Amino acid sequence: MEVQLWRETLAPYQLAVDELVVKFNHVKQQYQDAKMYSPIEAVGGRVKRVSSILEKLKRKGAEISELEEKVEDIAGIRLICQFVEDIETVVKIIREREDLEIKLEKDYITKSKPSGYRSYHIIAYYTVHTIKGSKRLEVEIQIRTLAMNFWSTIEHSLQYKYREHMPEELRERLLRSAEAVVALDNEMASVRDEIMDAQNSNRQKANIISDILNNIENLYYVANEREVSKIQNEFFKVYLQDDMNTLKRFNKQLDIIAETYRAQSVQGYRS
Ligand code: GTP
Ligand code: MG
Repeated sequence: MEVQLWRETLAPYQLAVDELVVKFNHVKQQYQDAKMYSPIEAVGGRVKRVSSILEKLKRKGAEISELEEKVEDIAGIRLICQFVEDIETVVKIIREREDLEIKLEKDYITKSKPSGYRSYHIIAYYTVHTIKGSKRLEVEIQIRTLAMNFWSTIEHSLQYKYREHMPEELRERLLRSAEAVVALDNEMASVRDEIMDAQNSNRQKANIISDILNNIENLYYVANEREVSKIQNEFFKVYLQDDMNTLKRFNKQLDIIAETYRAQSVQGYRS
């Protein structure tokens, strides 16, 4: 029997996980930069541990030599969403990517597993480039809500603890809490618009405040210090009023002041 070089086998999978984590974090970042709501809340990834790979091969009655065909989740990516609705959006994003070729999709949300597990899985082909050349390998992408993730993390630890011998009563309780997760996700979906409004206005307010403070800092370098200090005091007063429109108006005024200074400096340059 050939010697199985685990580190060498798993290295390209680690590269795939590292790359995809960066890529999906960028998707999230791009939404944030565009000041839009991101359907991706968090990104995780891992390479399956050798002990888990061996266990899976044993369960499937497969040989070590077949590991890359038989174990689809050596490279695993987890995308966590806030709302069930976001999962569909994320799936569409993945379907459109040219660096991922979908092999199969498993919808455990429409139809949960007997354990109560819910999640959307995509097995996809992904190519990495190493010093030995390129390699096309399989990755498993799990897409689920925060609530689904909470349940599966806990259930997974319990499964790990009890193996095949999970007490019937515990199994029942997990099933009941899986139902509670469905109810929670539904409840959150019904207040989604309100939650998103709240998150949006929080984000807007944070952006405007950072804009204002940026403007003040820029003015500090071109304007009279006393004047800038007066502006800053005014800002604190406006800030305490806690009103978006007042903040917006204040920022517009600052823009005008900054524009005046810019115009002056351009004229100064010309003369
Ligand atoms: P394995 O279940 O891993 O043998 O693979 P499979 O070919 O049956 O695919 P499946 O889609 O059932 O599971 C893939 C992965 O989903 C698993 O490795 C787990 O991470 C997760 N998963 C599937 N079922 C459950 C479950 O009942 N509980 C938890 N916590 N996770 C699950
Ligand atoms: Mg399974």
